Amino acid sequence: MRQHVNPLSNNFNEIEKIPSLSEMFGDSKLNLHLDIGCAAGEFLFDLALVNTSWNYLGIEIREKLVNNARLKVLEKEIKNLYFVFGNANNILNDAQSKFLIKNLKSISFNFPDPWFKKRHHKRRVIQPEFINILANSLEKGTLIFIKTDVKDLFDYMDCNISSNFYFKKIDKKDFNYSDSFNPNKVKTNREKNVIVNQLDIFERIYIKI
Ligand SMILES: C[S@@+](CC[C@H](N)C(=O)[O-])C[C@H]1O[C@@H](n2cnc3c(N)ncnc32)[C@H](O)[C@@H]1O
Repeated sequence: MRQHVNPLSNNFNEIEKIPSLSEMFGDSKLNLHLDIGCAAGEFLFDLALVNTSWNYLGIEIREKLVNNARLKVLEKEIKNLYFVFGNANNILNDAQSKFLIKNLKSISFNFPDPWFKKRHHKRRVIQPEFINILANSLEKGTLIFIKTDVKDLFDYMDCNISSNFYFKKIDKKDFNYSDSFNPNKVKTNREKNVIVNQLDIFERIYIKI
């Protein structure tokens, strides 16, 4: 069992410099997707290798995973994938990330850490202030995807996003995945594990209005 990282620790107050889009990607004009809490990035490697008309960016708080993923990007010479290390809340709250948020077509939160105890809920990645930042900077039409096997966490995330006036739920049956960042419905590692164990998956898509 891996050790959870406390995102509120002072270790994450200082954030690394975010490069420009053209420094991160071979073609900075491609649609940009952000995966928050991407772990070792396997999901994003699977996506980036197949969907070459999208750029993919992963943010992960465990530094070793990010360093390994970056090495793999260099080895495989992948031009549409980039990883940033740190607490996603601090990174996206920083003024230097405004350009990044503006350029996003979609964001995914796949199986975020649940932080079950009530006194630890503030460590959950989706917080009202964070959703406000996204609401203020995302372009209209940007999509947010949330997915988890923890019902309480789903309700918490859904409540935080739905109570923000700028986000509207999209009915899954009206959603055309083929135009999305994940046209082939690639699964994350955690999702594969949840499916093997026959647990429920709770998911929702929102659009910035
Ligand atoms: C349960 S894992 C899920 C990993 C992957 N998304 C999946 O579905 O297989 C949650 C990941 O989010 C990362 N994480 C938690 N809080 C974070 C934060 N505030 N910023 C960035 N990453 C975070 C954790 O380190 C961990 O790798």
